[in-house]
Amino acid sequence: MHRIKIGVLVSGRGSNLQAIIDNIEKSLLPAKIAVVISDQPDAYSLERARKHNIPAVHISAKGYKGKRGEYDALLAAELQKNRVELVCLAGFMRVITPTLIKAFPNRILNIHPALLPAFPGLHVQKAALDHGVKFSGCTVHFVDEGMDTGPIIIQAVVPILDNDTEDSLSERILRQEHKIYSRAIHLYAEGRLKIEGRRVLVIDGKINAAEFLLNP
Ligand code: GAR
Repeated sequence: MHRIKIGVLVSGRGSNLQAIIDNIEKSLLPAKIAVVISDQPDAYSLERARKHNIPAVHISAKGYKGKRGEYDALLAAELQKNRVELVCLAGFMRVITPTLIKAFPNRILNIHPALLPAFPGLHVQKAALDHGVKFSGCTVHFVDEGMDTGPIIIQAVVPILDNDTEDSLSERILRQEHKIYSRAIHLYAEGRLKIEGRRVLVIDGKINAAEFLLNP
């Protein structure tokens, strides 16, 4: 079976990266991580990749202030050099520009720790708590030129508890992130995701949103 080559872009600790690596190693995900790229030199993600013999590259953004497109051209070149077919943003804390999107049209996924379109941007678990919503969760979506706006592939719902803190909520959301990101990559790898306008349909799919709703 063809194993899709993915490139993972990271900035930090890389627990989503680790979940993808673990699922590949358990043969649950027909993929191969061709390269992990970080904009941060000391990201723990790079270490995680190296421990699994995955090429790990730091591409510094120093000197690219106001030249985000030029930086993204470096990312695109590194991804293309490694023959990446699908790009996965996993805690990559930079806004992507059209330069990268045009190099990988409909081939970039992102995981976001809220139920989009609610709470785009940063510090969103705190924003959900502050707003007083009763449910939050996480979203895997295709990346388009907006901020967290692309077509949604999978969401998981996480109830907010009265005694939740930003940390406790983030932790429970993260557990769901680790499941749905691999699931979305799997569907993509099987060629089963069809984008129709804003909607992403799963071809021949038994899954629907309900499968991922509440996972106590
Ligand atoms: C995850 O919660 C991910 O959803 C979030 O950063 C965290 C990275 O954790 N991403 C964003 O907020 C993107 N705007 P990880 O490094 O342990 O995977």
